[in-house]
Amino acid sequence: MLWLLLGINIIIITAVQGQLNFNNDLENNQKFQSVPTTIKTYENDTVLLPCSLDTPFRYVRWHRDDVPLVDSRHPEILPPDRVMLWPNGSLQVSYVQTEDTGDYYCEIMSATGIRSIQVHAIEVQYPASVLIEPNGVTEQSIGSVVEVACQAQGVPQPVITWRLNGNTLDRYSRTGNRQSHIFDIKSRSMAGQIECVATNGVGQPAVAGVYLQVLFIPEVSLPQTIVYTKVGARAHLECLVESAPMAAVKWFHHGLLITMGSQITTHETELQFNRSVDHYVSHIKHVLVIKKVRDADMGQYECRAYNKLGFKSASIELTGRPMPCIFKINPGTQSPTSHILVWQTESLLPIMEFKLKFRQIPSRNVTKQIRTNWTELTIPAQVTIGSIYITSYTLHGLQPASLFEVSVLARNSFGWSDNSKIVRFATGGEVELPNYSTESEMQYDATEEYSEQNEITQRSQILTASMTHNRAEALSNCGPSALIYSIVLIIKLFYVNFKNLY
Ligand SMILES: *[C@@H]1O[C@H](CO)[C@@H](O)[C@H](O)[C@H]1NC(C)=O
Ligand SMILES: *[C@@H]1O[C@H](CO)[C@@H](O)[C@H](O)[C@H]1NC(C)=O
Ligand SMILES: *[C@@H]1O[C@H](CO)[C@@H](O)[C@H](O)[C@H]1NC(C)=O
Ligand SMILES: *[C@@H]1O[C@H](CO)[C@@H](O)[C@H](O)[C@H]1NC(C)=O
Ligand SMILES: *[C@@H]1O[C@H](CO)[C@@H](O)[C@H](O)[C@H]1NC(C)=O
Ligand SMILES: *[C@@H]1O[C@H](CO)[C@@H](O)[C@H](O)[C@H]1NC(C)=O
Repeated sequence: MLWLLLGINIIIITAVQGQLNFNNDLENNQKFQSVPTTIKTYENDTVLLPCSLDTPFRYVRWHRDDVPLVDSRHPEILPPDRVMLWPNGSLQVSYVQTEDTGDYYCEIMSATGIRSIQVHAIEVQYPASVLIEPNGVTEQSIGSVVEVACQAQGVPQPVITWRLNGNTLDRYSRTGNRQSHIFDIKSRSMAGQIECVATNGVGQPAVAGVYLQVLFIPEVSLPQTIVYTKVGARAHLECLVESAPMAAVKWFHHGLLITMGSQITTHETELQFNRSVDHYVSHIKHVLVIKKVRDADMGQYECRAYNKLGFKSASIELTGRPMPCIFKINPGTQSPTSHILVWQTESLLPIMEFKLKFRQIPSRNVTKQIRTNWTELTIPAQVTIGSIYITSYTLHGLQPASLFEVSVLARNSFGWSDNSKIVRFATGGEVELPNYSTESEMQYDATEEYSEQNEITQRSQILTASMTHNRAEALSNCGPSALIYSIVLIIKLFYVNFKNLY
């Protein structure tokens, strides 16, 4: 009834007298020709709201919610812009605007003096629009939690959906036309465009976005953890750093900050090419260049990358030692009691000798038993032109149908190489292969033997004494105390060129 009260004090104060009563609607409606309608329309359209009875009428007047619009009894009073009353009682609203949305009341008096009211509605539909908060770019560290809120407008009420890097997200909370999404920043991979899309079926969906930039402690990786060099050579130590924000890098040698100069310099190369995707993450290769390596330059280096969140570092060894040996697959058929081993290594300084370690390992039908100790042989190196060494060596007198594992190291004047990977082989005859498989088991073996160094050296002396060179073959019984399997080893050293071998 509020509209009525407001209406009274304007034009129709004498005419209405407050007698209108909605309770009469049922009775009234029977006399209406027009039917109550909600008109869904669009901006700039023209809308016609009918109001007519079966019988002629005395007057008609229209209200928009509480505001009087037109009255047929007072044509001299100008209606609001874009509003017009037709003689048949219809109300026309032209060029409708969003603010025209609302209820429109028609009050009509029949010739017989019965007053009736009919309600129509205009709903001006308009496309969705949406605002996001925060907007632009938001920087968040791993471990933080950020709430992003979207507020949509439009008629009808838009539906909001969320996307992260184009993937639809499900969980969100809603209050009215505001929705929020909590992002728990767990990893770098969450970085990207957060978008909310508001759709109401009118026009194009509206999209608002914010770029989520994930900040993290620098990540350091090394293409090589050991750099092989020699005195007088030029050495490059490389360190790859990914970070957001960008990291500063410092280099240390034996724990001391390196001062750059003519002998030692650094340079950087940017590796991140796809800036549009991950545009705040820097991915940079830092290189420490030692122009002419001196003895004092050898040893442990550290590349340490800092940003405001923290730092990480990685160690690189600069050494003159030979590289670890690599066993070559030997395609030749093997006899039941011997095995040809071929390995390759590289050393800038001449290699003086190799240390070959081998031992028998249990096959499947042998119940799990403790591994035997390594047997070790010292093998002199051949003279080679260049830095690549390929060596062939035959183990003789092995137990047939058995499994063995071998590892080899090389030594130059700088020191011993790291152990090669452990390689397993079987001597000829039926042998059931056990389910050895995991690399980790092998790795474990490789480290374990460092503690056995002393024991190995002793054994090595015994065996070295029994070796013969220069294509000669010698039979040597090393005694039961030295050899675990009480086998007789016949050691034959080939001075064979690797190429001739195949
Ligand atoms: C309505 O008319 C105005 C003025 O001519 C125009 O700017 C606007 O874009 C129109 N709206 C639509 C939905 O066509
Ligand atoms: C009322 O008059 C207008 C203008 O002549 C016309 O367009 C409309 O159809 C009429 N409405 C009714 C319900 O007769
Ligand atoms: C860069 O990003 C675009 C878009 O994500 C992708 O299609 C393209 O393969 C990326 N390029 C590289 C070099 O990673
Ligand atoms: C293991 O199995 C092979 C063939 O199946 C057999 O010849 C050999 O004697 C077995 N070894 C042991 C220790 O049982
Ligand atoms: C292996 O070496 C250790 C330490 O020298 C010794 O105690 C052990 O008996 C050896 N095992 C075998 C099977 O020879
Ligand atoms: C070895 O592998 C075979 C086949 O995968 C399996 O049946 C057997 O149980 C395994 N043996 C052991 C000791 O794990």
